[in-house]
Amino acid sequence: MGAKEGAVSPHSREESLCIFGTGDLGRSLGHRLFQSGYRVVYGSRRPDSCGPVPQGVLNHAEAAQSSRIIFLCINREHYSFLQALAPQLNGKVLVDVSNNPEKDMFPEANAVYLQRLLPEAYVVKALNTLSAWGLQNGPSDANRQTFICGDSAEAKQAVSEVCTRLGLLVLDRGGVGASRELEDFPLQLFPMWKLPMRIAVGLSGAFFFYLLIRDVIYTYVYEGKDVSFRILVSLANKVFPIVSLIMLALCYLPGVMAALLQLHRGTKYRRFPDWLDRWMLCRKQMGLVALALASLHVLYTLIIPIRYYVRYRIGAGIISQALKNQTTEFFNILAWRTDSYYSMGVLGFALFILLGITSLPSVSNALSWREFSFIQSKLGYVTLFLCTLHGYLYGWDKFLHLYSYKWYTLPGYMLSLVVPTVVLGLKLLLLLPCVDRRLTRIRRGWEHTPQD
Ligand code: HEM
Repeated sequence: MGAKEGAVSPHSREESLCIFGTGDLGRSLGHRLFQSGYRVVYGSRRPDSCGPVPQGVLNHAEAAQSSRIIFLCINREHYSFLQALAPQLNGKVLVDVSNNPEKDMFPEANAVYLQRLLPEAYVVKALNTLSAWGLQNGPSDANRQTFICGDSAEAKQAVSEVCTRLGLLVLDRGGVGASRELEDFPLQLFPMWKLPMRIAVGLSGAFFFYLLIRDVIYTYVYEGKDVSFRILVSLANKVFPIVSLIMLALCYLPGVMAALLQLHRGTKYRRFPDWLDRWMLCRKQMGLVALALASLHVLYTLIIPIRYYVRYRIGAGIISQALKNQTTEFFNILAWRTDSYYSMGVLGFALFILLGITSLPSVSNALSWREFSFIQSKLGYVTLFLCTLHGYLYGWDKFLHLYSYKWYTLPGYMLSLVVPTVVLGLKLLLLLPCVDRRLTRIRRGWEHTPQD
């Protein structure tokens, strides 16, 4: 930091911090800083007309002198007045917490613009992903992270210490040039959920029309019966579990593909393609969407016995048996089949819930890495296996009967088993001792050279 080195020194508990701006964000931040043991001094253009502020308000120049770190809780449009304060701000750490209502509103990021206005100050971008509400209520699991960037390592260190004392987890994103990326974060709408939601909606739509043709239109064309009422429960109770099972498998497919890629390349040091990276990053969201769909399947299954259609069929069956004075035979195999697919479904669903719970930050933070990876990876594959087995047992010998292939199409449950079966098959392949040994070596840093 050259001549300005002395400006940033280790702080004491009683350190005074300055905030420019007495709006919602400024007040919430001041409140949190005060609670964390700092003295807070506010700077305002009109100190007398800010309303009640517990710690008191000074004009900008006076406030700036009281502290080496100044949080700017003001809009970028007002930054120009800071130039007049350059003598007071030179050598200070200026924390830019601003955001813009839209992307690319200005040619340069707010923090870069600020650094250009005040080249002798140390601009650090931080806290812009937290809302005033989040700051006031203290960090919860969802907003514990704060990204930080700036050109001075010491200035970032000083701001990081303050953030850590506020209970935040600081993630350094590099120089001030990264501030555009940080300023875009709050404008993103559920970025990690986009891909899983698109997959869920796309697959649900495709399977809905596929099953509509097979289950409703086919019956109408061949039997002249209108069974469109089946759309709401029967069809839904096929679409949701099918999509859920495929998406559960899609959570594990990228891991298997990454392992195969590492085996093929003989190193772990080459980057994965971007699409694979993105896919791996949204596995948790993908799993949670799959869990939501599986829960819907379970709820729909629970209402099967109270459906009018089902009660009618059972009643009609009993009356017909009474009229014929005969009872249908008890099929032991059918009892085995239904009980086994129910039981696999129940076990699979229970483990699925465990996976969902352990992916919550409050739970995963309490687990060691080994515990977390045991649950998410090993138990995850067991879950996939049980749910897939549930599908196979549900199908049983249906694949042998021609009536399953209406209009030469495969039943939905068969299609749902393709991806999980491929994933489980590839995983088995990776577990073969010779393959596993090579993969473990690669993951420990060994690299394949042409002589090997
Ligand atoms: C089918 C029960 C959990 C995937 C079925 C069916 C029942 C059932 C009764 C037949 C539905 C019908 O005849 O239309 C249960 C129970 C579960 C459970 C009681 C747990 C409490 C799961 C889970 C998954 C799943 C966790 C996957 C993630 C499937 C699939 C089908 C199916 C793919 C075939 C759908 C079709 O094409 O008809 N399940 N299930 N089930 N279930 Fe489950």
